Amino acid sequence: MASSSSSSHKNRSPVLTLFFVTLFLLSAFIFIFIFRDRDTNLISESDLLLLQTPPLSFPAHTPNETQTNQLIQQLEHKEREIEPKPESEPEPEPAIATDTKISVNDSDETQAESEGEEQKTVVGKSDENDRKSESDSDDEVAAVKQQQLDCDLYSGIWVKDEANYPIYEASSCPYVDEAYDCQANGRKDSDYTRWRWKPHGCDLPRFNATDFLRRLQGKKVMLVGDSMNRNQFESFLCMLREGLHDKTKMYEVHGYKITKGRGYFVFKFEDYNCTVEFVRSHFLVREGVRVNGQGSSNPILSIDRIDKTFRRWKRADILVFNTGHWWTHGKTARGVNYYKEGDQIYPKFDAVEAYRRAIKTWANWIDHNINPKKQIVYYRGYSSAHFRGGDWDSGGSCNGETEPVLSGSILDNYPLKMKIVEEAIQGMKVPVTLLNVTRMTNFRKDGHPSVYGKNVTGLKKVSTKKQDCSHWCLPGVPDAWNELIYANLVLQQSSSRG
Ligand SMILES: *[C@@H]1O[C@H](CO)[C@@H](O)[C@H](O)[C@H]1NC(C)=O
Ligand SMILES: *[C@@H]1O[C@H](CO)[C@@H](O)[C@H](O)[C@H]1NC(C)=O
Ligand SMILES: *[C@@H]1O[C@H](CO)[C@@H](O)[C@H](O)[C@H]1NC(C)=O
Ligand SMILES: *[C@@H]1O[C@H](CO)[C@@H](O)[C@H](O)[C@H]1NC(C)=O
Ligand SMILES: *[C@@H]1O[C@H](CO)[C@@H](O)[C@H](O)[C@H]1NC(C)=O
Ligand SMILES: *[C@@H]1O[C@H](CO)[C@@H](O)[C@H](O)[C@H]1NC(C)=O
Repeated sequence: MASSSSSSHKNRSPVLTLFFVTLFLLSAFIFIFIFRDRDTNLISESDLLLLQTPPLSFPAHTPNETQTNQLIQQLEHKEREIEPKPESEPEPEPAIATDTKISVNDSDETQAESEGEEQKTVVGKSDENDRKSESDSDDEVAAVKQQQLDCDLYSGIWVKDEANYPIYEASSCPYVDEAYDCQANGRKDSDYTRWRWKPHGCDLPRFNATDFLRRLQGKKVMLVGDSMNRNQFESFLCMLREGLHDKTKMYEVHGYKITKGRGYFVFKFEDYNCTVEFVRSHFLVREGVRVNGQGSSNPILSIDRIDKTFRRWKRADILVFNTGHWWTHGKTARGVNYYKEGDQIYPKFDAVEAYRRAIKTWANWIDHNINPKKQIVYYRGYSSAHFRGGDWDSGGSCNGETEPVLSGSILDNYPLKMKIVEEAIQGMKVPVTLLNVTRMTNFRKDGHPSVYGKNVTGLKKVSTKKQDCSHWCLPGVPDAWNELIYANLVLQQSSSRG
């Protein structure tokens, strides 16, 4: 027993040595492996940091676009987690340092007091700190988001904000057509470009064109409606244009210049694979002509048939509709031998009832053709006109107005047409967000082109006979409508993310 045990003892020590050596080597390997791994992580992260600066100005024609686009998508996904500050961005000034997502009305009582204190300190800090605390205190952010979600964005006031407005300089944007280019046409006062819409219960997220473009990546935005929507469309283009480093990466795909004579425009934002389009449709339902016995043709409106541009609507990811102003024009308002349903042309028909049925036709079409999982639908509410001493076609005017209305019954105007739209939307299957801009436009008697809808510089005497007190100068009021679209996207996407 003893001898065998001693011999086995003799044999055991080299085995043990071998075991320990192996163990040592193994741990050394693991050690090196871990560190090497960590190293690559560091390298890849700093690569990310380097790579993340350019995506905004990413060349569109890189050797392999598919690969590049995938890379950008990956980077953008990653970026949300680490959020570096792009090197090209100037240092934010204290006054504009508030984070887009966190800025609340401190006096709001629905907010817990302690939370209120904390948020106050969060709001004046630098961008980076904001972002850090954002990840540090999810509850707090969630509370703010909830507050914004609960907030009525359309009930508020206009506040003067000379530091941040206008969002784009007057006459700097090539997409404003002559009818809305008031400064170029000779309008001297410019205070009307410096108002920001401020909801009572919260602040709108600060407009960020780059961020907006990223949210629209790969998407097709389409504004469908009358010239008031073209007005908003031009504003939309000018606002997004501010987010482009290389402004030549944005163009109308057919090379068309925007004029009221044409009914369809497609603007491509190359670096974001995104298009913003305008489709003219005065009534959203089908316009046609009727040839009578004497061979003369008269316009008719089929209030039970969707407008023939509908094939284009189907392809959009984000739709913004409007109609309204054309329903007060002569033949529409009179309704004599004009409205058609089925095979019948009504000898006389009430314009309001026709409007109700047309909106119903539109709502029905949306319910049957739009996929709410993939598409977003907005209806932009009635935009108020401000004619003094007459109507649009009878010498009404708004020239010389340089300040918004501050009080008075005009602010409470809410047309029957809007109640009809609200009713229709409530009955729909597909959710439609009402951009309820009517009240905010009631204030803005100062924002219309009046006599500056055409170039009057150099004229000795400007005629005040025919004025435009319906549309809006750009930059101006429609910029705020687009800020509301941006706000809706930001709030929607942040709430669905958690
Ligand atoms: C580009 O990259 C993608 C993904 O890596 C690949 O599938 C494709 O074949 C490449 N195209 C060219 C032209 O190299
Ligand atoms: C905050 O909201 C209250 C009502 O909720 C309003 O009276 C007050 O003017 C708002 N404050 C600011 C700074 O907007
Ligand atoms: C705007 O958004 C971009 C992209 O999300 C971001 O990098 C930038 O810091 C933002 N700018 C401001 C002033 O918040
Ligand atoms: C661009 O967006 C369209 C959808 O609008 C999509 O089908 C297409 O694959 C995208 N192209 C690239 C290169 O990402
Ligand atoms: C839209 O705004 C008007 C006027 O402020 C208001 O009376 C109406 O209830 C609002 N509609 C919706 C759906 O919020
Ligand atoms: C407006 O008219 C003036 C004088 O005729 C001219 O100098 C100016 O270039 C015109 N502006 C635009 C934007 O066409």
